[in-house]
Amino acid sequence: MHTENVVQGAYLVAAILFVLALAGLSKHERAKEGNNFGIVGMVIALIATIWLSLSRAADPMVTLGLLIAAMLIGAVIGLWRARVVEMTQMPELIAMLHSFVGIAAVLVGYASHREMVETGTENTILSVEIFLGVFIGAVTFTGSVVAYLKLAAKMKSAPLMLPARHWMNLVAVLVSTGLMFWYLQSHSMIPLAIMTVISLAFGWHLVASIGGGDMPVVVSMLNSYSGWAAAAAGFMLSNDLLIVTGALVGSSGAILSYIMCRAMNRSFISVIAGGFGQEIAVSGDTDYGEHREINAEGAADLLANARTVLITPGYGMAVAQAQYPVADLTKKLRDRGVKVSFGIHPVAGRLPGHMNVLLAEAKVPYDIVFEMDEVNDDIKDTDVVLVIGANDTVNPAAMDDPKSPIAGMPVLHVWEAADVIVFKRSMAVGYAGVQNPLFFKENTQMLFGDAKDRVEDIVKALP
Ligand code: TAP
Repeated sequence: MHTENVVQGAYLVAAILFVLALAGLSKHERAKEGNNFGIVGMVIALIATIWLSLSRAADPMVTLGLLIAAMLIGAVIGLWRARVVEMTQMPELIAMLHSFVGIAAVLVGYASHREMVETGTENTILSVEIFLGVFIGAVTFTGSVVAYLKLAAKMKSAPLMLPARHWMNLVAVLVSTGLMFWYLQSHSMIPLAIMTVISLAFGWHLVASIGGGDMPVVVSMLNSYSGWAAAAAGFMLSNDLLIVTGALVGSSGAILSYIMCRAMNRSFISVIAGGFGQEIAVSGDTDYGEHREINAEGAADLLANARTVLITPGYGMAVAQAQYPVADLTKKLRDRGVKVSFGIHPVAGRLPGHMNVLLAEAKVPYDIVFEMDEVNDDIKDTDVVLVIGANDTVNPAAMDDPKSPIAGMPVLHVWEAADVIVFKRSMAVGYAGVQNPLFFKENTQMLFGDAKDRVEDIVKALP
């Protein structure tokens, strides 16, 4: 059988496995299975691609040597990073990885340009692919570098507000479109090079003008761009698998960004265009009165006498790595006959699914972990809610204060429970920078300190 046919067959199998991987990853019960599909698909794709390139190579041994060397270096760096990275640093790592996809698409574009023979319709198609691939790749590259720098706090996270910034973006796109026509007619390197410089600056500016608050959406948007950049590289290299995979990443990243924006009540366009048409309403310094405090022993007493307990985790649980004692506490309470469930807000933490991953890691049973909409109606019949390191996602101002920056964002109605215990280290604000009236409600008590230490104290104090 012809090598090309076998490789195309293998690519098809790999593409189906990638689709199954995405389907599996969308449900936590099947996430491991989904991951395994992805791994098998990737192994098949790699073997097929290596085989194909060896069958085409002038000197297969040299090609094989180069491929093995590149893969070894990549695998060592990848394994090292995967081992040392903290869950809370995940967004910046992902941003850095997207920049690699971007620069790879630019390099593939330039290599394809060099190999292009002079005229013909096919050349026009290839030229469009090269031009768009380099454009998307360059925007993704610098955009991801800025996102990485902002997330790693190596650059100010406040949005860069240059005057006429939206006009600058528009001019960059229009000039690049003009350059594309020049490139299609001349096949010269000059318009390609000018466009590369413009799109590098455009990508930098686009993400620099987005505030740190919207960075997770931007990372998911860049994820989408990196998918389209890979798909463009797939067209240039006539590699169907790269096209399919790029399209899968591109569309899933776009859908994810949209879902995140909706869950935060932000307009998608205003986020990706760097605050376009967005007016930030600043709510006044309202005096909410005094807050009440509780200690671990008091919290343990309350829990021991409860019939139903709801736990709503947030970013603080991730920072404190409190998921393990939270799992212990859950087990202890369930052994005593208390009905414990978890309510997960769609944007709790800093990544979609952040809380689900942490709880799964600590072996909290899947069947007691619910989404916000599944628990909200039952909170009024709940005895105790434990808000562990969450803030914005349980802020009633989102519903009650139309001037609040998070107005309209759906939240967990924890204040409707009989008692609420909030675990945090201080009265400081959450991610959105707004005060939380929940902390001052009559049925709320604050349990100050590191969430991990405090939950461990409660586990010890439970009678
Ligand atoms: P946040 O509003 O970020 O609040 C987290 C709270 O945890 C803080 O108030 C902090 O208070 C507390 N905390 C930090 N470290 C702690 C520790 N070691 N022990 C105990 N408490 C600790 O959390 P959230 O409710 O999860 O909301 C997520 C926010 O991120 C939302 O505004 C959301 O829009 C935004 N966001 C999320 C995503 C995704 S996809 N998840 C994407 C974009 C934006 P102290 O400093 O007083 O301890």
